[in-house]
Amino acid sequence: MPALPAAPYPEEVRARLAADAAELIARYPQARSALLPLLHLVQAEEGFVSPTGIRFCAEQLDLTTAEVTAVATFYTMYRRRPAGKYHVGVCTNTLCAVLGGDQIFAELQEHLGVRNNETTEDGEVSIEHIECNAACDYAPVVMVNWEFFDNQTPDSARQLVDDLRAGREVRPTRGARLCGFKETSRILAGFPDERPGANDESGAGGAPSLAGLRLARGEALPGTPGTKVVAPRPESPRPDAPRPEANGQAGNGQAANGQTGTTQAANGQEGSEA
Ligand code: FES
Repeated sequence: MPALPAAPYPEEVRARLAADAAELIARYPQARSALLPLLHLVQAEEGFVSPTGIRFCAEQLDLTTAEVTAVATFYTMYRRRPAGKYHVGVCTNTLCAVLGGDQIFAELQEHLGVRNNETTEDGEVSIEHIECNAACDYAPVVMVNWEFFDNQTPDSARQLVDDLRAGREVRPTRGARLCGFKETSRILAGFPDERPGANDESGAGGAPSLAGLRLARGEALPGTPGTKVVAPRPESPRPDAPRPEANGQAGNGQAANGQTGTTQAANGQEGSEA
C-alpha cells in the first residue's frame, strides 16, 4: 500500500461523499461505529478501498489512518486492488475444494488469463479465491458481487464469466439480480437498492439448507414422500430441571441419569470417593 497520508478526493467528490457519510454516521450513537459502512461507501466510489478512501474515512470519523487501515485490511470484503465490474469469488475452502472448487479456480485463472486478485484487461471480471461462504450445502459455490451461483462445475463457471464479459444477463441461483461491484458496494454501505423489484428477489432457504431441520423434525426429505428418516427428537430437558433421584427414585434414578460407577470413573471421582 502506498505511503500515507494519501491525496484527498477532488473537492466535488469529497463533498458528495461527505454528505453520504453524514447520513450513515447519523445512524449510530458513536460516529466510529459507522466505519464499516463508510468503507463500503469509498469502495463504491473507486471499486476498492484506496489510501485516499482510508484518509476520507479517518477524517470523517476522527480516527487515525492506521486505525482505519487496521479494519480495512482485516475484513476480506474490502479490496485493496480495484475489482472488475463483476468480482468473481470461488470458494476454495475444504468442502467446496474437494467437490471441485480448486479445479474451478485453476481453470478460471487459465481461461481468463489472470491470477488471484487480478482483473481482466477489459475491466469486466476480477477473480479471487475466497473462504467458506456458509453455503456449503450448495458446494462448490461461486459468487459474483457476493451473489450465489450454486453447484458449479468448471464448465458452468467458464460459461458464467464468458456471459459476464459479453454483457449477457446472468441470474444468481438465489438472491437479487446482479449489479456492478460499485453499485453493490453502495447497497452494502446501507443505501437502498433502487432497482424495481430487487428487494423482493432476495429469496429464502433452499431445500438443501433446510434438510437438517426437516430431519430433526422427523419429516420426510424431498423425493421420499411418506418416509420419515428419523424419529422426531424429543425436547431437551431444561438444565435446571430436577434430576430423577430428587423425586425419590434413587435406585432406578441412578441408572437412568447415568450416575453409575462408569461415569464416576470417567469423571475421575472414583478414587477420591472410595
Ligand atoms: S466450503 Fe464453500 S461455502 Fe463452505
